[in-house]
Amino acid sequence: MSSLSVEAGRAPESGIIEVVNAGRDHPDLIPLWAGESDQPTPAFICEATKTSLDTGETFYTYQRGLPELREAIAAHYRRTYGVPFEAAQVCVTGSGMQAIQLAIQAVASSGDEIVIPTPAWPNMAAAAELRGVKTVAVPMDIAESGWQLDMAKLEDAITDKTRAIFLNSPCNPTGWVASLDDLKAVLEMARRRKLWIIADEIYGLFHFGGDGVAPSFLQFCDPDDPVLFVNTMSKNWVMTGWRLGWIAGPARLGQVFENLVQYSTSGVPAFTQRGAIAALTEGEDFLSEQVELARKGRALLLDGFAGNNRVQYAAPDGAFYFFFAVEGVTDTRQFALDLLKETGVGLAPGTAFGTGGEGFLRLCFARRHDHLEEAVGRINQFLQRG
Ligand SMILES: Cc1ncc(COP(=O)(O)O)c(C=O)c1O
Repeated sequence: MSSLSVEAGRAPESGIIEVVNAGRDHPDLIPLWAGESDQPTPAFICEATKTSLDTGETFYTYQRGLPELREAIAAHYRRTYGVPFEAAQVCVTGSGMQAIQLAIQAVASSGDEIVIPTPAWPNMAAAAELRGVKTVAVPMDIAESGWQLDMAKLEDAITDKTRAIFLNSPCNPTGWVASLDDLKAVLEMARRRKLWIIADEIYGLFHFGGDGVAPSFLQFCDPDDPVLFVNTMSKNWVMTGWRLGWIAGPARLGQVFENLVQYSTSGVPAFTQRGAIAALTEGEDFLSEQVELARKGRALLLDGFAGNNRVQYAAPDGAFYFFFAVEGVTDTRQFALDLLKETGVGLAPGTAFGTGGEGFLRLCFARRHDHLEEAVGRINQFLQRG
């Protein structure tokens, strides 16, 4: 181990995967620990990929992604947010995770800092730290009205080494959704302090706290603003196993992202990109169904825990996670392991989500409703016992 790089040696084991590994073989498992649906990718998407393979699309391809896919992504943004968006602003990546890595590589070097409101999905910080970039947590507050980001605290965390603010809204794990005013304040801060924003709006269509999609930087930023959008095919079109995403931002960065792709994966398979094109161009109805399923899953949980005073939470306004504390439980890692062993319900412990997450557990509700109902019953019973 001592011969490894410091960063690789220090890379943390995912606190979510630790519980997953402990429970994979549980005979009565209801796995709600990961951020994914239990439905397989629909046939119309798979068919497009099969056709591509059958017609021999097995060669190296465009580093920035197939032109048709980049156009389909740009059209998706134009349709969803009613704003101009060009294919030239888009670079296809081998997952949302890779988009995050490229964004970090593009804006920060070893010794630099990135500011991240927490609790947060842990991979962003881990990816930065792997590159020697320090992440500075800005713990969010939970109030009666829900999670809140204090802009003064965010600004206080910025130093002369800060290169970017990572903002994930709707947020995994809290379900917090930044208001348009929050986003405008962050953009104003980024412009004034000469920082990049890495905007993770992958759950933007899963919005339950108001009408329509969640507020987005896209609704008011200029094409040249310092905003990098990282995104994925994983969640909207139930394609988590495909490993496909994109990064979008000022068109002038196109060559930079092309180079970063060339020297990492050298491109994304053309045949999976064909599936993504089908998803983006023919998947509107499917997507609306997914959002409705999640909306009902959320309602089911809120109802199911309504009578349980030990379960404390802010109802999620977006994404598809129920992030809750249990009165009297401080060690949520141990609680997740015990709950799993006793009941077969698999949750992600809040310890995996950084400062401020420790006292919570995360449950994914983009899942079968009978499983959600059963899980709520088992959790309620388990809590009565202890
Ligand atoms: C907030 C957030 N960003 C990015 C990702 C990355 O998604 P993927 O790597 O599956 O494309 C995830 C996955 O859970 C996520 O929750």
